[in-house]
Amino acid sequence: MKLEINISDELEPIEKASADELRALQFERMQWTLRHAYANVPMYQDKFDAAGVHPDDLKSLEDLAKFPYTTKQDLRDNYPFGTFAVPMEQVVRVHASSGTTGKPTVVGYTQQDIDVWAAAMARSIRAAGGKRADIVHVAYGYGLFTGGLGAHYGAERLGCTVIPFGGGQTERQVQLIQDFKPDIIMVTPSYCLALADEFESQGINPAQTSLRIGMFGAEPWTNSMREEIEARFEMDAIDIYGLSEIIGPGVAQECAETKDGPTIWEDYFYPEIVDVNSMTPVDDGVEGELVFTTLIKQAMPIIRYRTRDLTRLLPGSARTMRRMDKITGRSDDMMIIRGVNVFPTQIEEQILKVDQLSPHYQLEITREKQLDNLVVRVELRSGDNDSATRERLAAELKHHIKSDVGISTRIEVQDPGAVPRSMGKAQRVVDSRKL
Ligand code: DLL
Repeated sequence: MKLEINISDELEPIEKASADELRALQFERMQWTLRHAYANVPMYQDKFDAAGVHPDDLKSLEDLAKFPYTTKQDLRDNYPFGTFAVPMEQVVRVHASSGTTGKPTVVGYTQQDIDVWAAAMARSIRAAGGKRADIVHVAYGYGLFTGGLGAHYGAERLGCTVIPFGGGQTERQVQLIQDFKPDIIMVTPSYCLALADEFESQGINPAQTSLRIGMFGAEPWTNSMREEIEARFEMDAIDIYGLSEIIGPGVAQECAETKDGPTIWEDYFYPEIVDVNSMTPVDDGVEGELVFTTLIKQAMPIIRYRTRDLTRLLPGSARTMRRMDKITGRSDDMMIIRGVNVFPTQIEEQILKVDQLSPHYQLEITREKQLDNLVVRVELRSGDNDSATRERLAAELKHHIKSDVGISTRIEVQDPGAVPRSMGKAQRVVDSRKL
C-alpha cells in the first residue's frame, strides 16, 4: 500500500474527516494488513490457521476480534527478524526495546514506514502546539530506543530546527537550552524534573527559559506531575504516547487546546481495549488493556498487539479520532501489597500533594515475616529541614496514601538528590523480594 502524506502547519484532511470516512479507511487498511501479515509472516499464518481464521473473514472492523493476539513473547520467539514481512533489503532501519529481562524485541521499518512515522510525529508536534521553524531540543535517548530518532525525524519533517542532544550530560543540556533557546523540549517527564533541578542549582529559574512546550512520554506520569512541570517551567506539558512494537513515539498525542488525553492517530493504528481476565474487547469508556493493530506498516505489520498498558478509549475532542485516557500503569507494573492492587502513579499523586517533598521518588517492595511491604522513598525539596519536620512530612504522606490508596507504607524522607535519577525512563519500582 503506497502512501503520500503532506505535512504543513494546517491539519491534514484525515484529522478532520468524519467518523464514517475514518472507519472506511481503517477497514481498507486493516484488510490489507491482515493479508500482508498472513502471506508474508509464517508466525501469523500459523496463528491464524490455529485459530481457524483467514484474512477474508474480516467483513467489518468488529471482525478483528476473531483474530489472535500478538504478545511480546511472540516477538521474542521470532528473534531477531522472524516477524518481518518484507525481504531484509527493504528494511532500512531496526530499533529494539531495551529488554530488561531476556532478549530485546526487535522492530524493522521500510523507507515508507520511516516516512509514516515521521509524518505521525510531525502531526504530533503540531498537535502539541509546535510549528514549522520552532527549535526542538530532543533529550530522548538516541540509538536502539525509538524516542530520540522518532522525535528527530518528526521535528525535521514538520520543518523545525532539531537539537539532537539525547539523554544525559545534564549540566550541558541546561547550558545548551540557555544558549540555543529552544521552543520545545522532548524528554521523559522524570528527566525533565532532573533538568529543572539542574537549572535551579545553577541559579537559573526554569520558568525564565525559552521553552514553550514539553512533549512528555515513554513512562507513566500523572496530571499532578503535569501541574508541577508546568508551574516550574511555565510551559505547556503535553502527553505523547507510543511503543516500539507499533512504531515508536507518535502513536497517540495529546492536543494542546484540550490537554485531555492523547488522541490516537487512528488512520495508522487501530486501538481496542480488552478485559484482562476474559480477553474480550470492551466498549469505549471501559478500562482494560490497550491493544493495537497497525494499519499501514510494511516491514513489521502487527496484529492485536497486547501493550500491557491500562487505560480506556474516550470520544474525540480536539479531533474526530478517539482519545485514550492517561495510562494508569502497565499490568506488569502493578504491585499487590497485602491484597491491594497499586500502581506507582497512585503513589505519585499522593507525593505531589505534599509541598515540601520533591517529585522524585522510588518504591521498594520488601518482604518481612511473609508479608509484603511498600517502602516509599522520597526527598525534601530543600535540605535544611530538621528530623521533626521529616517525621511530620513522612506522617502526612503515609496518611494520604493510607486514606486514598488504601495501603500502609513505610516512608523514608531523604535529602535532596538522594533518590536515583534516570536519564530516560525512571525505574519507579525496585522489587527486593526477588533479590
Ligand atoms: O517509550 C516510545 C516513546 C518514546 C513514547 C518517547 C513516547 C515518547 P518503548 O520503549 O517501546 O517505546 O516503551 C513503550 O512505554 O508500552 C508504555 O508502557 C510506556 N509509555 C510510552 N509513552 C507513555 C505515556 C517508547 N505517554 C512503553 N504514558 C509503553 C505512559 C507511556 N506510558
